[in-house]
Amino acid sequence: MVWLSCGLAALAGLLFGMDIGVISGALPFIVNEFHVSTLMEGWIVSSMMVGAALGAMGAGAISQRFGRKKALLYSSLLFFVGALVAVMSTGPNVLVIARILLGLAVGVASFTAPLYLSEVAPERIRGTTISFYQLMVTIGILAAFMSNLAFSYIESWRWMFGVLMVPAAMLFIGVLMVPNSPRWLASRDRFDEARAVLNKLRSSKTEIDYEMGEIEESINAEQKSRGFQMFKENPNFRRSVMLGICLQLVQQFTGMNAIMYFAPQIFQMSGFEGTAAQLWSTVATGLVNVLATFIAIGFVDRLGRKPILYAGFAVMAASMAVLASILVIGPTTTFLQYTGMASLLIFVAGFAMSAGPLIWTLCAEIQPLNGRDFGLSCSTVANWVGNFAIGQFFPVMIAAIGGAMTFGILSVLNVVFIIFTLLLIPETKGISLEKIEKNLMSGKPLKDIGS
Ligand code: BGC
Repeated sequence: MVWLSCGLAALAGLLFGMDIGVISGALPFIVNEFHVSTLMEGWIVSSMMVGAALGAMGAGAISQRFGRKKALLYSSLLFFVGALVAVMSTGPNVLVIARILLGLAVGVASFTAPLYLSEVAPERIRGTTISFYQLMVTIGILAAFMSNLAFSYIESWRWMFGVLMVPAAMLFIGVLMVPNSPRWLASRDRFDEARAVLNKLRSSKTEIDYEMGEIEESINAEQKSRGFQMFKENPNFRRSVMLGICLQLVQQFTGMNAIMYFAPQIFQMSGFEGTAAQLWSTVATGLVNVLATFIAIGFVDRLGRKPILYAGFAVMAASMAVLASILVIGPTTTFLQYTGMASLLIFVAGFAMSAGPLIWTLCAEIQPLNGRDFGLSCSTVANWVGNFAIGQFFPVMIAAIGGAMTFGILSVLNVVFIIFTLLLIPETKGISLEKIEKNLMSGKPLKDIGS
C-alpha cells in the first residue's frame, strides 16, 4: 500500500518533469507558426514558472484545508485543462494562458507530492520514496525530450503538449485510489480515520500505536497557532522556514536548469555544430539525469543526506571549473570538445545524485506539523522563483560576461554550498518527523535538529 500510494503520488513528478522538458523542443515550432517576438518567446517559456510560483503559494492553503489527496486531484485537473488549452491555442496569448494553467498545476503538484510522500512513508524509507519522486521528475524531463524529438519529425508542437494529457488523466484516476495522509487527518482532528489509514500502511500494531502517539503529541504541543500566524509568533519555526527557502535557492543556483533549458546552446559553445548532434546530446543529459538519480535512491537512507550532498556539490563545482577552463582556452581540439561535453554530463550526474532529490526530501522533513503547509509552500515558491531567475539571467550573463566567467561563478557557488551544508543542513536519516520537530522547537541549532 505504501508503494502504491507513493508510486501514484510520484506520477505528479512525471508531469512536473514533462512540463519542464516540453518547451525547449516546442518553442522553435511555435515561433515559426505564430511569428512571435523575442519578448513573447520569453513569456511563453517563463509564464509557466510564474504560474508555478502562484500555484505553490496557494497550494499550502488548499492542502491544509482540503487535504493532500484533493490537492493532487485538483492539480491533475489543471494539468489536463492546461494541456488541452495549449493543444487548441489559436495564438500566442492563449498559449501563455495554457502555460500559466500548466504552471499552476505544477506548482500545486511540486508542493503536494513530496509532502504527501513524507507523511505516508515509514521513516526508514522516507528518503528513498521522495528520491523516487525526483526520479519520476527526471523521467518526465527525458520523456519530454524524446517526445519532442519524435514529434519534431512531423513538426507538431501541439502533439508535444497533447501527450501531457495522458499522465494527467492517469494521475487523476490513480489518486482516487490512494488514502488521505494520516498526519493531515490527525491535524483536522480526524484521529480515527488517521489510525485506519495507518492500519493500511504499517505492518504492526506497535508501529501504529507509536506513530499515532507521536503525531498526537506534536499536534497537542503548546504551539497552537498554524501557518503564517505561527511564523509571526514562533522564532524556531521562522528558522525552519528560512532554511527551507535557502535550500531551494541553493538547489536552483547550482545552475542545473541552465543546462536543462539551454543544453543545445551550451553544446554549441563547446564546439558541437549541427542541430542533430545538439539534440542527441540533450537527450544524453536527460538520460544521465535519470540514471544518476538511482545513486540517491540507493544511498539516501543508508549513507544519509549530508554525505551525498557534499559529494554532489563537489562534483558540480569541479565539473563547472573544468568547463569554464575549456572555454577560456577555447574548444579547439576534439579532445577538448569531448572533455567539455563529459564535464557537462558529470555536472548533471552530480546534481541528480544529490541536490535534485535531497533538497525536496529535506524541505519536506524539516517543517513542524502545524506549520508544514506554510513552510513547504514558502520553500516551493522559492524553488520556482529561483528557477525563473536562472531561466531569465543565464542567457543575459552569457551575453554580458561570457561562458567561461558564468560557469566559473557557478563553480564557486557550488563550493559555497558545501560550506552551507556543513554549517546549516541537518542530517535527517532514520529519525521521525516528530523528533525533528521537537529538536527544532527546543531551539537546537539547525544543523543538529536531526540528531
Ligand atoms: C528541480 C528542477 C529541475 C529538476 C531536474 C528538480 O529537483 O527542482 O528545477 O529541473 O530537478 O531534474
